[in-house]
Amino acid sequence: MYKLGSQVAYTLYGESHSEFIGGFLDGIPKDTDISIDQIKRDLALRKPAAGIGTPRIEPDEVEFLSGILGGKATGERIHYRIKNTNTDSSKYDIFNRTPRPGHADLPALVKSPDHRIKGGNQFSGRLTVSVVVAGSIARQLISQHGISVAAFTRAIGKVRDDEERSFEDAVKAKEFQTKAATSELDSMMTREIKDASADNDSVGGVVECIAVGLPVGFGGTWFESVDSEIARAVFSIPACKGVEFGKGFGLAEMRGSESNDPYYYDHGVKLRSNNMGGILGGMSDGAPVVFRAVFKPTPSIGKEQDTVDLKDMSNAKVKVEGRHDPCIVPRAVIVVESVTCLVLADQMRREC
Ligand SMILES: Cc1cc2nc3c(=O)[nH]c(=O)nc-3n(C[C@H](O)[C@H](O)[C@H](O)COP(=O)(O)O)c2cc1C
Repeated sequence: MYKLGSQVAYTLYGESHSEFIGGFLDGIPKDTDISIDQIKRDLALRKPAAGIGTPRIEPDEVEFLSGILGGKATGERIHYRIKNTNTDSSKYDIFNRTPRPGHADLPALVKSPDHRIKGGNQFSGRLTVSVVVAGSIARQLISQHGISVAAFTRAIGKVRDDEERSFEDAVKAKEFQTKAATSELDSMMTREIKDASADNDSVGGVVECIAVGLPVGFGGTWFESVDSEIARAVFSIPACKGVEFGKGFGLAEMRGSESNDPYYYDHGVKLRSNNMGGILGGMSDGAPVVFRAVFKPTPSIGKEQDTVDLKDMSNAKVKVEGRHDPCIVPRAVIVVESVTCLVLADQMRREC
């Protein structure tokens, strides 16, 4: 069981090849409207697209066991689960002996000698099906208070989108299979993924996420800051290797006179730029919260790689056959949105 949040508290359970993956969601106020159709729409965005995603396609039907009645939260714990229908682990046996580079096999086997590799076990991207359900419920709670979250694909491999993008662009990106902002970028990114896949390889990329509607001062300080809590949640997503807010690492080469976001008055205090990604002192400064997350290339690849034989304690080779995403990024977009919604829902409940 893995936990996130305190007032809106999410617990994740399950494994890649367990019978069910599920979640508990506590703290959703009684009578909050919950649309099951919205949950289905969010889950559809996590599904792999033909030709650029894993051939492991599951129905992802959610069974709600408690906490939702007649389209509303009852105020009790929401418990739901999703059946895994594709759980043949036989192809993974070999990785108990020759662990996959880039995956969690080696540290998991060393940490727990009785660990047996079945798909990606508890480290699998498959668990994000539960995250998206919880995130969708959290999304519905925060949207009823004027807060919305949308993400899109900023980069895949060497294809980078350098244009300024708005919240509306991020919403529209859901039309495209790579979740890029335009159809031209979608074609280029699709090609990048297909080229890697044809080479038995994988590619990584960048997801950008935008949250709007946070009132000025929303958030906390130090370990409860909006940015630290979002970063922790986003870093928890398998394969995420970096998070930056606003201009992020680019701030290193700017002067304060360039990086500060100056204020002006126009029916309220506004900012002339958003280099800080909408956060000052851990709180919203009124500008959209903007951050980017980098996802590494999928570790399981069909190309032969060096590993070790843990039985003989000798050098060995391994290649991964079977069902894998040649690029995680298009499917990670909705997962980034989901954890962000969970964090903001939790922060919102702590504000009250
Ligand atoms: C949506 C999603 C799908 C993923 N699909 C795969 C996959 O098909 N094959 C794979 O090896 N890793 C996949 N991963 C990544 C692994 O789960 C992850 O790299 C591994 O657990 C090691 O964790 P780490 O990369 O965070 O260190 C996926 C991750 C996400 C978020």
